[in-house]
Amino acid sequence: MTENGFHTVNNKNYDIPKIGIGMLGYGFMGKAHSNAYHKISYMSWPPVAIPQLVAICGRNDKKVEEAAVRYKYQGYYTDWKQMVKDPSIEIFDNGSSDKMHFEPTVAAAKEGKHVFCEKPLAVSIAEAEEMLLAVQQSGVKHMCGFNYRFIPAVRLAKNIIEEGKLGKIYQFTGHYFHPFGSDPEEKVENIWYAGPGHPGVLYGIGSHLIDIARFLAGEIDTVMGITKNFNKTRFDSNGKKHAIAGDECNAAIFEFTNGALGSIETSCIAPGRMNHQFWEINGSKGSIYFDLEDLNHLHVCLKQNNRKDLSGFTKILVAEPEHPYHSIFYPQPGIALGWEDSFVAELNHFIDCIINNKSVEPYGATFYDGYINQLIIDAIEKSSVNGKKMKIAAEF
Ligand SMILES: NC(=O)c1ccc[n+]([C@@H]2O[C@H](COP(=O)([O-])OP(=O)(O)OC[C@H]3O[C@@H](n4cnc5c(N)ncnc54)[C@H](O)[C@@H]3O)[C@@H](O)[C@H]2O)c1
Repeated sequence: MTENGFHTVNNKNYDIPKIGIGMLGYGFMGKAHSNAYHKISYMSWPPVAIPQLVAICGRNDKKVEEAAVRYKYQGYYTDWKQMVKDPSIEIFDNGSSDKMHFEPTVAAAKEGKHVFCEKPLAVSIAEAEEMLLAVQQSGVKHMCGFNYRFIPAVRLAKNIIEEGKLGKIYQFTGHYFHPFGSDPEEKVENIWYAGPGHPGVLYGIGSHLIDIARFLAGEIDTVMGITKNFNKTRFDSNGKKHAIAGDECNAAIFEFTNGALGSIETSCIAPGRMNHQFWEINGSKGSIYFDLEDLNHLHVCLKQNNRKDLSGFTKILVAEPEHPYHSIFYPQPGIALGWEDSFVAELNHFIDCIINNKSVEPYGATFYDGYINQLIIDAIEKSSVNGKKMKIAAEF
């Protein structure tokens, strides 16, 4: 203690494990993940481990240094090939663009790093298979960034289904709509997931819906689908014309292995739908539905009291200390969480699995889930061309 009463903190008094993080990408997801690592270290106490933000990586020296300062990383790399060899890094977190998921993630797994990779896991079945093989061979923990599993209302839905409260699952219906490309004059750089080089909206947000369908309603057996692109060329703000290869909207129907029926629609050309992920599940004993634009609520109908006058949906505020993942945040009931908190719960789960040697599945998505997701995306795209019902046949 100094004369003016100031005490210097002695971190050695706190025997909390540390875990080194290497973050690839400093864009949207680089921000969401870095924020989550900081929150993990203080929201629950003691935390399962204190993330050490070792390094962040991007190609532009000036911008990545700025990101390192902003997100409080100890340093930065401009070459991911060097970052994957950094001995202080235990988790390699890939938040770079879809096409950069494959090579750095495989390299990191081969270096023995635990790997977290944003969704979609890959952009082809061959890549997804190799990524899954790499983590299986190196024995590292792996997780694919389907963060919506970690929204408390979504996990409550999972618990309700696991407890058999919906009875036999009959149907899953979902749609995920964005508005960004609805204006044909909109510039390519403003259209998330329909811009040049992007694989399209099925990969971008359809992958989330496919994951939710599998997470809640069961494994998918067969699919049929149609993908559409209404604007095959677009201009950028410099007046350059670009060919648009990816889909702008799609619709698919599924059969689940448990016999249930499924349907999903995805769009980035839906005016007024800002981040509208909606899904509903109907079973013999009840139904549930969820809307991401109102993520603290789950709508539940349980036919348990045989009172027709009380039938219909109950809107549950999923913000009690008893609800999933709330123990990470605040002890008070009724405290709503935000979209960013799904990343806190997701990465907290991953770190817990590493530190305490727990299984990432079934509540977290693994590279196996990313691989199956890729099989389903591929089958929808093929079905759109050949008009046939496609069987989902995993090789692993
Ligand atoms: N889970 C979710 O809700 C969610 C939301 C948005 C995006 N995503 C996914 O996250 C990933 C990143 O998306 P984003 O919106 O953050 O993109 P972004 O364009 O904002 O950021 C991508 C980052 O990757 C970096 N990058 C690209 N190529 C690189 C290379 N060769 N070397 C080093 N860095 C490179 C870019 O510099 C940038 O920092 C995508 O795969 C996307 O599908 C997930």
